[in-house]
Amino acid sequence: MAYELTNEQRDRYRATAIRSQLRKRELLRFHDEDAEVDDLHRFGERLDVSDLMPMLASNALTSLSLFSGGGGLDLGFERAGFGHAASFEILDICGETLRANRPQWEVSSGTEAGDVRAARFTPFRGVDVVHGGPPCQPFSVAGKQAGAEDPRNMWPDFVRCVLQTRPRAFVAENVPGILDRKFNEFVKANISAPLEKYYRIFKFRLAAHDFGVPQSRRRVFFVGFRLKRDAERWVQPEPTHGETATLFGTVLPYNFARQSIGLPDIGFDQLAPTLRSGFTGPRNTTGILNSKASLTVWNRLRVWPNGVQPTHSMARAYPPENGHFRLSVADCALLQGFSADWKFSGAVYQALGQIGNSVCPPVAYAVARQVARALGVA
Ligand SMILES: C[S@@+](CC[C@H](N)C(=O)[O-])C[C@H]1O[C@@H](n2cnc3c(N)ncnc32)[C@H](O)[C@@H]1O
Repeated sequence: MAYELTNEQRDRYRATAIRSQLRKRELLRFHDEDAEVDDLHRFGERLDVSDLMPMLASNALTSLSLFSGGGGLDLGFERAGFGHAASFEILDICGETLRANRPQWEVSSGTEAGDVRAARFTPFRGVDVVHGGPPCQPFSVAGKQAGAEDPRNMWPDFVRCVLQTRPRAFVAENVPGILDRKFNEFVKANISAPLEKYYRIFKFRLAAHDFGVPQSRRRVFFVGFRLKRDAERWVQPEPTHGETATLFGTVLPYNFARQSIGLPDIGFDQLAPTLRSGFTGPRNTTGILNSKASLTVWNRLRVWPNGVQPTHSMARAYPPENGHFRLSVADCALLQGFSADWKFSGAVYQALGQIGNSVCPPVAYAVARQVARALGVA
């Protein structure tokens, strides 16, 4: 949601920002990355996100990734047993993340090699699954919802890739806004009409916290199958986590933010509010605040959603003035469901951009597993 600021508010925020910068410089002047951790800042046990998506043996299927970002969908598919065919992503920094984590992957990134609009997909004919999240700003409630008129509408390129490679299945992810009634015609014209001739398509919403991610975050998925037999085997992923554990113990309780990060018990815990989709909003911002309303939840959690630091140690050395917990990039990655070994390249704002734009890997994993089942493996 866009902030409407008066000049007076703007001046006040500017003054606060300058004061905070000076304080940060002072506090971090003698910062020692290896200093002893005091008890107040010692972490308890943290959520091990890889437990939410146990690595499965290879299922001998391959997946091609478009609009790969920092790799949320790619990681979920990998952990569900898929072989990685290639990734296409226009931002170099995302390409760096993917290559640094998986040097063996074929990654095309940058405005030339990585631009899906210019890519040739015929060499990937025979791939089993195409997946991707075409940029969602055209449909996001945070944007103007211009849909097909928006130059960032890249659904036609996703569709072209599917038609050129003819995978057995595709998975496309987007923001919930795309299912608003006002986009019915858009979805029909840009997704259903060109693909329905060849694919049976399922549309559904998933909530990340239903899959153990300690964050409130909803996404829409379109899953399509070329063969009738595969479509008939398709079953939408069932939540693995819930409000209350079920009688037979198949659903685990939600993971909440403080406990997942390993912070001390303060008598209150909750899902983290949706992390801001970081490549939008003020340039180079190191905050994850998505809306004014979510500030109330962050405050109750006593977690500060601004000025995220590159490391735990720097976050600890520079506590916010209100005494709340300051987040590091690793904490934000955990709140999004990335396993601790997945590292993001770039400055803090670039890492947050990749995190906030991603499909939470445990959600990607749940979808990928069900796709593999529908394709007759796993
Ligand atoms: C919603 S994010 C995808 C996130 C990703 N699926 C994940 O799970 O981490 C959309 C991505 O599309 C990329 N993108 C935008 N235009 C592109 C283009 N023309 N070609 C390739 N990638 C593009 C953006 O840089 C952004 O990283």
